Amino acid sequence: MPKLSDVAHLGKAVTDSLQRGAPDIDMDTVPKMLDLSAEGLTDNVIAVNANTGNQRQKLVMEVLVRHLHAFASEVALTTEEWKTAIEFLTKTGQTCSDIRQEFILLSDVFGLSALVDILNHPKPEGATESTLLGPFFVEDAKTISLGESIASEGKGEPMLVRGRGNPIMRCMIDTWETDQDGFYDTQYTEYENDCRGRLYTDANGRYAFRGILPVAYPIPNDGPVGQLLRTMHRHVFRPAHLHFSFVTASSSLLRRFISGVTSSSRGRHISVDQLIGSDAVFGVKSSLIVETTRVTDPDEARRLGFSSDSFHLVEYDFVLLTKEEAAFEQAKVRHAASSRIVHPQVEVVGTSVALRSLP
Ligand code: BEZ
Ligand code: FE
Repeated sequence: MPKLSDVAHLGKAVTDSLQRGAPDIDMDTVPKMLDLSAEGLTDNVIAVNANTGNQRQKLVMEVLVRHLHAFASEVALTTEEWKTAIEFLTKTGQTCSDIRQEFILLSDVFGLSALVDILNHPKPEGATESTLLGPFFVEDAKTISLGESIASEGKGEPMLVRGRGNPIMRCMIDTWETDQDGFYDTQYTEYENDCRGRLYTDANGRYAFRGILPVAYPIPNDGPVGQLLRTMHRHVFRPAHLHFSFVTASSSLLRRFISGVTSSSRGRHISVDQLIGSDAVFGVKSSLIVETTRVTDPDEARRLGFSSDSFHLVEYDFVLLTKEEAAFEQAKVRHAASSRIVHPQVEVVGTSVALRSLP
């Protein structure tokens, strides 16, 4: 079993990297790769990746390599295009900071985030669907009592949001939304916690809070992802919506779901209604669309704590799965995925690698 470190007269660069932890592998297990054709190249990259003891990593890398190579071959990727892609990814990385994640945005506009969410939060009939978390969630939202406002005065048109869990008492709800100008609090240079809050359902699973009517807004589009969308002639807008995160914990049970509600005020915000069907990041689901109604009743408005005579009303109930139910649904998706995959079995024979597809 000759290892690389068994070879006499290794240069300093090789011994240094072995000392730093580069794998010192049995060279007999490495396929001899010379004069590879496009097809042989793919099989051999998969073969050299196959030594990992982590079966999930092995599977993910195998399929990734196969699809990446198939993509390049199918479009006959030019060197220029490949360079453009590398430059684009470089700029995407350079645009990331503590408060900006351009790679997640890239994943969002490709629909990858929406797909990962669908795969990881399958929902049986009747359960509340999840959707994109988005980049504007923060952990330090102020905690409010039931009925209190998450928005300071003058941030937008008053809105009451209320509903019930299935029933879940003491469910922690985080909610966040744009102000009337279409900005989240974190987008202002002087960040001050506003238009977001944390509250808990009562003993009957009920919740209520005051906020403001959210408006449509653009996803961040002043970086490479925005530039890409311009070249694709794609718009950058999300319909008006309110984010919800639901977390419950009892002694032995933790339930966590992220969800969103898209609010539509028919008649008043026609353009907003149009955006519901063309969200820039593919996050809208019919089951999450909620109609807002306008309540004009000065006494009721005052009783609820509004300073105006009227307010928008959103009523929204949610149904969460238990941790076990969620794990069961996820296992079904994973099982279906792994049974679709055909793994090539690699045999190292002398100096060549034979690949065989198992049924
Ligand atoms: C959001 O809804 O906050 C969001 C989601 C994805 C990209 C940008 C914003
Ligand atoms: Fe949002």
